[in-house]
Amino acid sequence: MKFIHLVDPSIDVINKLKKTIKDSYIPRKEIIKLHYKKEQEVVLEKDSKIIFIAGMGGKEIGKILQHLILQVTANDRFVISPHRNILELREFLASSPLRLVDETVINEDGQFYQILCLCLNDGLSKISQFGHKIWMGPLGEEYRAHQLKRYEHHQDPLSRKFLAFLTDFSS
Ligand SMILES: C[S@@+](CC[C@H](N)C(=O)[O-])C[C@H]1O[C@@H](n2cnc3c(N)ncnc32)[C@H](O)[C@@H]1O
Repeated sequence: MKFIHLVDPSIDVINKLKKTIKDSYIPRKEIIKLHYKKEQEVVLEKDSKIIFIAGMGGKEIGKILQHLILQVTANDRFVISPHRNILELREFLASSPLRLVDETVINEDGQFYQILCLCLNDGLSKISQFGHKIWMGPLGEEYRAHQLKRYEHHQDPLSRKFLAFLTDFSS
């Protein structure tokens, strides 16, 4: 039996979700399970799974991944979408045992969001520090111009390295 598990440490979010699901026309509501806890406290089951972690900062996502990596197999997938601290998160990912299945960037209401699909399969490429495919897709050039502007006055070494990468990427 397949389940959808939704995890959140905010009781308000859990209660709102409960009501949204109850009032919705979603078929087979019984397969949706709500968990009032932090994702760092989750104990995974053995079946293959896709774990979505979205809408949080990169530091929080990094902590969650460190906890969950120990419980997944090569058949499992992570789909992550950090809202902040992407450079720091990608630096952590590049040195982790995770590998890249795919990466893309989307634009929602004028905001860009990277989405990465990751797994533990050694046969796949390592995650590059600043990304590769995200700069090549249909939004790549627009995203690059946006990031150049966003980081232009940052002085910390990681941001300077990122700016140099973005500048080189066009040439
Ligand atoms: C900005 S909302 C994003 C909601 C949704 N994921 C999205 O992308 O639209 C962030 C949500 O993450 C939850 N959250 C924060 N830290 C968490 C953690 N460690 N584990 C699970 N959920 C967490 C918050 O309670 C909040 O509901």
